[in-house]
Amino acid sequence: MNPVKLKEGVYWVGEIDWELRNFHGYSTQRGSTYNAYLILDEKITLIDTVRSYLSDKMMKRLSSLIDPSHIHYIVSNHVEMDHSGSLPLLMKIAKNATIITSPHGQKGLQAHYKKNDWNFKVVKSGETVSLGRKNIRFVLTPLIHWPDNMVSYLEEDRILFSNDAFGQHIASSERFDDEYPLDIIVDEAEKYYANIVLPYSSQVQKAMDAVAPLTMDMIAPGHGIVWRSHGKTIVEE
Ligand SMILES: [Fe+2]
Ligand SMILES: [Fe+2]
Repeated sequence: MNPVKLKEGVYWVGEIDWELRNFHGYSTQRGSTYNAYLILDEKITLIDTVRSYLSDKMMKRLSSLIDPSHIHYIVSNHVEMDHSGSLPLLMKIAKNATIITSPHGQKGLQAHYKKNDWNFKVVKSGETVSLGRKNIRFVLTPLIHWPDNMVSYLEEDRILFSNDAFGQHIASSERFDDEYPLDIIVDEAEKYYANIVLPYSSQVQKAMDAVAPLTMDMIAPGHGIVWRSHGKTIVEE
């Protein structure tokens, strides 16, 4: 599958896991996707990665757009390995890349991957980083799903890269919520929320309050379909 354009210079470069049937102990009858997104700017930026066993495929997809050794920033919104699994391979190829993450994110990535030579930029909630023409704002959203979670907001394009928030376990060739049956997306989003996020519901409200002021043209989660036509539906549910 080719990269999928979200907006000018912003692409989905994730991977589809057609076979996944169990995730955190709940059945994922429709499989899932690990969504990564590439922003082409003066500083080429990758938002999240995919499970390690799909890393080579993701590198091929990245290579169809850029030379992956030129990646400047890799945003790690969440340490969990379904999102960070390609970091070891990426950091070998993009040797000068800097990983942008939360304070807990840095601790978690260092504890898990034990790499002393990775460059980190640790961000605070509300901090903005310039990519050249565009800017990303980071909002920490602890416990959606682990203490390290954050979301990234591309200000000029009004895209929220929400990682585990607003996700659904759906494997499909379609990438957008107006290309796939909405009732199934909402159903899977509710199931996902109940299993992954709801156990931390007191934190969810705080996170929602933090992202509510942002104008969102698109919500691009870490799993499943990208919300571009029905984002309001899912935020209000
Ligand atoms: Fe997670
Ligand atoms: Fe996840």
